[in-house]
Amino acid sequence: MRQHIVAGNWKMNMSFEGADDLTNEIKEMLEEHTLPKETLLVVCPPFPYLELVSDYSSESYFAVGAQNVSDRDNGAFTGEVSAEMLESMELEYCIVGHSERRAYYGETNALVAAKVNQLIKHDISPIVCVGEVLEEREAGKQFEVVAQQLVEGLFHLSANDFRRVVIAYEPVWAIGTGKTATPEQAQEIHAHIRGLIAKQYGQEVADDTSILYGGSCKPSNAKELFDPDVDGGLIGGASLKAKDFIDIALSF
Ligand code: 13P
Repeated sequence: MRQHIVAGNWKMNMSFEGADDLTNEIKEMLEEHTLPKETLLVVCPPFPYLELVSDYSSESYFAVGAQNVSDRDNGAFTGEVSAEMLESMELEYCIVGHSERRAYYGETNALVAAKVNQLIKHDISPIVCVGEVLEEREAGKQFEVVAQQLVEGLFHLSANDFRRVVIAYEPVWAIGTGKTATPEQAQEIHAHIRGLIAKQYGQEVADDTSILYGGSCKPSNAKELFDPDVDGGLIGGASLKAKDFIDIALSF
């Protein structure tokens, strides 16, 4: 059966020292509170702090992920970070297709597909973000927008490769705005996503796929959101506070 996942996307925040303090607090809180064994915590810091966070993760188990990856193999691509590099650091996860990358860095579904391929090739699980912007929601187009993102970004994979994928539904209008989707809105679109996966890959693969919700998720609303097709959260702001992050993970 699918795993519950609470993943913290730190985005472009924290100094090195701040990252050290936050990870240490997460570690200490994990020593005090045991998460249910089907709940996995993933921490996704900026690239320069991956090694620091990975060192802590070996002492107290949580997984580590990157926030982005290149669509290319190693070589002359200044400023890029390859999936091979992430694999060599033994990273297990990487976020792809976040709406901020789609909006500010022109990440298209085709680019998402190329990045996903790199990650799969290097044994890293992609956490693929999908979600509609406010105008699309207001026009009632959220179901087709998300379907297109899945078809063009992911559904070229074989069923076997798709099994590595985690999906994060993040309505863009809910990210960093304090406006959360209602549990009904989240459940409705998560069920839609699972239905599309079932159509493409069969019910068993769909039942095994973790689909996370992201967008102003915090300890006060996590419990009502995580139910029954919502398998956890991709957390932005609240993942920068150890207590909030762990409290969200304890919401199941
Ligand atoms: P917030 O939790 O800050 O709304 O961010 C959500 C997000 O974008 C996680 O990837």
